[in-house]
Amino acid sequence: MRILVTGSAGFIGFHLCRRLLAEGHEIVGLDGMTNYYDPALKRARHAALLTSNHFQAHEIMLEDDVALTRLVQDTRADIVIHLAAQAGVRYSMEAPRSYVDSNIIGTFNLLEALRACPAQHFLMASTSSVYGANAMPFAEKDRTDHQLSFYAATKRATEAMAHSYAHMWNQPTSVLRFFTVYGPWGRPDMALFKFTRAILEGKPIDIYNNGQMQRDFTYVDDCIEGIVRLLPLTPTASNDSNGSPAAPWRVLNIAGGRLVELKAYIAAIEKATGRTALRNELPMQPGEPQATLAATDELEKLTGFLPQTSVEDGVRAFVDWYRDFYKA
Ligand SMILES: NC(=O)c1ccc[n+]([C@@H]2O[C@H](COP(=O)([O-])OP(=O)(O)OC[C@H]3O[C@@H](n4cnc5c(N)ncnc54)[C@H](O)[C@@H]3O)[C@@H](O)[C@H]2O)c1
Repeated sequence: MRILVTGSAGFIGFHLCRRLLAEGHEIVGLDGMTNYYDPALKRARHAALLTSNHFQAHEIMLEDDVALTRLVQDTRADIVIHLAAQAGVRYSMEAPRSYVDSNIIGTFNLLEALRACPAQHFLMASTSSVYGANAMPFAEKDRTDHQLSFYAATKRATEAMAHSYAHMWNQPTSVLRFFTVYGPWGRPDMALFKFTRAILEGKPIDIYNNGQMQRDFTYVDDCIEGIVRLLPLTPTASNDSNGSPAAPWRVLNIAGGRLVELKAYIAAIEKATGRTALRNELPMQPGEPQATLAATDELEKLTGFLPQTSVEDGVRAFVDWYRDFYKA
C-alpha cells in the first residue's frame, strides 16, 4: 500500500515508517523539521529511513497549504497517518501560538487537502492529555471537556475538526490517543531522555511533586503494533462507545493500561545506567496531570492486542540506544 505519514522524522513517525517499510509498503514521509528539539536527531531518523528505496522524504510545513495539497494529490495515498504536531505540555505555556499553527491550522490544511483527495483510512494522533481532569481510567466514551493544558486543548480541537470532516466528506477516520510513549530514538523533551542524560552526566534530575506521579507508559513498539493492526480496520458510522452515529469515525486509546509510579520508572533508569540519580525536588507543574491511566478494552476488542513490554525492558532498550547514539 501507499501510505502518507506526517511527522515521519518524529519519534513515533520514525518507528512507524520503519515498521511499515519492513512490511513492504511504499511510504511518503512529510516533516517540517521544526526546531522544538534538535533537528539533527530528526535528520538522523530520516537518514535511517532513506536507506530504503521505498521511502520518500518531503520537508514541508503543514502550514504551507499549497505544498501540502500538492503532495497529497501527487501521493494519492491509500492510507494517511497524521502524527506531525507541536507536542509537549510545558512548552504550550511558553509558545502557545506554535500549537495553533501546527496543530489547528496544520490539521485543517491536511483535512482540506484530503477532501479533494480522500484516503481509504485517515488516522490521526491525539493524546491522553485530552482527558484532563477526568476520573481514571480514561475511557473513549467519557466526555473530554476539561483540558488542563493548551497543548491538550489544541489536540481536542483537532479531534472535533476531524469528526466534522469525517461526517461532511465521508472520510473514514480513526483518532488515536497515545499515552506517554517511550523507547529508543525518543524525544529529548521527555522525562526518559532528560533523566538518562542527566544521570549519565552526573547532574541532578528535576522531580516534580516529590515524584508522586503515575503514568500509563507505552513502549514505542507496542504503540506501533496497535497502529499497524488498526490500518485495515476502517471505521463505519456506529453507536459503539468509541464510535460516532453520524460519521465513519472512531476514537481509541493506545496504551498499556497499567499504572507505573514515576519512582519505579526512575529506578529502571538507575538500573539500566548503573548509576544513582541526584534529585532536585520541585513543586507540581501546572498543566501536568498527577496520573494517567487508559481503559484498553476497546483496543483489545478491536485489535486483539494489548501492550506487553515491561518498563524495565523498555527503559533498558532506550538507555542502550542512547549510549550508542550519543557515544555516552
Ligand atoms: N510521544 C508521546 O508520548 C505522545 C503522547 C501523546 C500524543 N503524542 C502525539 O503523537 C504524535 C507524534 O509525537 P512524537 O512523540 O513522535 O513527537 P515528535 O515531536 O517527535 O514528532 C512530531 C514531528 O512533527 C513535525 N512537525 C511539528 N510541527 C509541524 C508542522 N507544522 N509541519 C510539519 N511538521 C511538523 C516535527 O518536526 C516532528 O518531527 C504527535 O501528534 C503528538 O502530539 C505523542
